[in-house]
Amino acid sequence: MRSETEQMRSLEIIDQEARRLTHLVENLLHFSRSERQIARLSPAPTALAQLVRQTVEAFTPLAAARGVALATELHDGLVAPVDADALRQMLLNLLDNAVKYGSEEQTITVGLRASERGRRARIWVDDQGPGIPAADRERIWDRFWRLERDRGSAVAGTGIGLSVVRELVALHDGRVWAEDAPGRGARFVIDLPLMPQAEDAPEGEHERADAGVTA
Ligand SMILES: Nc1ncnc2c1ncn2[C@@H]1O[C@H](COP(=O)(O)OP(=O)(O)OP(=O)(O)O)[C@@H](O)[C@H]1O
Ligand SMILES: [Mg+2]
Repeated sequence: MRSETEQMRSLEIIDQEARRLTHLVENLLHFSRSERQIARLSPAPTALAQLVRQTVEAFTPLAAARGVALATELHDGLVAPVDADALRQMLLNLLDNAVKYGSEEQTITVGLRASERGRRARIWVDDQGPGIPAADRERIWDRFWRLERDRGSAVAGTGIGLSVVRELVALHDGRVWAEDAPGRGARFVIDLPLMPQAEDAPEGEHERADAGVTA
């Protein structure tokens, strides 16, 4: 008979693997759909802080099971035309990486603020792991590509997560990149357009208005 502790440990591993497989299947489904050109996004005005907060909360038990803490720095009131499921998937893929590749007992910080005079939103995920070497910051977005140090390592991965993030971000006219987190670790930044504002009228209208003043 195995001890209760051993049985608990086995259950934990089964639970973790089940979650990992679900995550993998979601990413694979996304890819098979998009390759047949039927990945349909439904962008709708979305309160970003609420969506990010909900996603982080949903992820908290998984992180806590690994001894990882999550912190948020979220500016309220930013609304962007996004597909909620897609943004959730992007964040989950980044959070999953932050937990897998970050250090034990780290704090992962998720932030949100406006940039470019309120025209765009920046969402970032910081971990306190080894970071991404500058030379690899382009290749990590390629499908099936993993850092040398992670190939054949005990940290399971297929190299799909970030390629899905990149594709979903592009479908939102966004940008995504990796940089150094303050202190140490990796920072992944997603930059998305916010809802157009009244003063962002099309160029032509500005020209007409200007012409009216100077005439
Ligand atoms: N936060 C991070 N810190 C350090 N290295 C990272 C981080 N995120 C990603 N990487 C590196 O980039 C590679 C690609 O990441 P990606 O999420 O695409 O694939 P994966 O995590 O290996 O597998 P999958 O996401 O499909 O389960 C990883 O294998 C790892 O080498
Ligand atoms: Mg991943």
